[in-house]
Amino acid sequence: MFDVEKIRADFPILSRKVNDRPLVYLDNGASAQKPQVVIDAITKAYTDEYANVHRGLHFLSNLATDKYESVRGKVARFLNAPDEHEIVFTTGTTEGINLVSYAWGAPRMQAGDEIVLSVLEHHANIVPWHFLRERQGVVLKWVECDQNGDLDPQAVIDAIGPKTKLVAITQMSNVTGTVVDVASICQGARSLGVPVLVDGSQAAVHMPVDLAAMGCDFYAITGHKLYGPSGSGAMFIAKDRMAEMRPFLGGGDMIREVGREVITYADPPMKFEAGTPGIVPQIGMGVALDYMMAVGMENIAAHERSLRDYTRVRLAGLNWLNVQGNSESKGAIFSFTMQGGAHAHDVSTILDKRGVAVRAGTHCAMPLLEHLGVGATCRASFAMYNTTAEADTLIDALEFCHELFG
Ligand code: ALA
Repeated sequence: MFDVEKIRADFPILSRKVNDRPLVYLDNGASAQKPQVVIDAITKAYTDEYANVHRGLHFLSNLATDKYESVRGKVARFLNAPDEHEIVFTTGTTEGINLVSYAWGAPRMQAGDEIVLSVLEHHANIVPWHFLRERQGVVLKWVECDQNGDLDPQAVIDAIGPKTKLVAITQMSNVTGTVVDVASICQGARSLGVPVLVDGSQAAVHMPVDLAAMGCDFYAITGHKLYGPSGSGAMFIAKDRMAEMRPFLGGGDMIREVGREVITYADPPMKFEAGTPGIVPQIGMGVALDYMMAVGMENIAAHERSLRDYTRVRLAGLNWLNVQGNSESKGAIFSFTMQGGAHAHDVSTILDKRGVAVRAGTHCAMPLLEHLGVGATCRASFAMYNTTAEADTLIDALEFCHELFG
């Protein structure tokens, strides 16, 4: 049984005040708060159980290695990935997608080859492909969404041509919350022999993910949005794709033998994890994933659906507010502008004075904002611990803004 008050009690920061008001944290799209179990796990890892991993034969190194390595299996369970050896630890989605771009994309793509991506993408799923465009003449083929923010999966499949080497697509927009039918895209792309990379940074926080059913080749998650520490994350890479990848970062841990003229590499996934990793962040992410799985992803999704529906209706009642992208298929993420020209930064500053934390700006998604025809938006992004009462506080604060700006 999902009990939001019980969940809230697990997140100590939620009981603090900001600007003398109870904190209403609606900037979860940027980063989520951490439950006490994660904070405790980080403290315990440093207080009692810390050493480098994979290197020592001493007690603490073995303990830290076991704890760290157990997270691979947790990520695989969380994503329903076929095999934990298909999980590469990263510092987050940005590193994960850069890994794929350098290690898989760069050696396989020639001038004129194409990457299909959508206008919904976050810069983390754009810039690494721009590198291939700039350096190798790869062509980026953009698929538009409609004004509601919806992306037609068939339009993505139709954009695939004989020169397409990859489809790179988000499962949930960080700006509009639009949920993309990535399973249909994977099915269509697979039938044409084209691999698919899915950016799961936002989606994996809010809905159950089933990679075995989805059938993508690459899937990125980031720990800090999943109620875990910053600097943690993982990339699912299907075995066949891993076999095609050259190493990305070079250093300790990713090798088997190093000589003066020859080098052999460790087996994947270690081949892609050079140097001392984010030991404690990854252990913390494992605890965060355990927490989410214990709450239940279906329960989280259902709670957030009710927050979305409630907030959508309340925002629609503000006839001076433009909500960007109002898809039926969306998460509880709302980007909006105020009619009359109040700048998003000013609106967010005023909301902050009332204890309400939102993000303002272009949300690392400039092509989408350009497509929507807006310069900057405010974004309220909800998480499992938010309540309809907090949505009401947001609405009250917006009404206050409206009075101020007239
Ligand atoms: N990707 C993060 C956001 O959407 C930082 O805010």
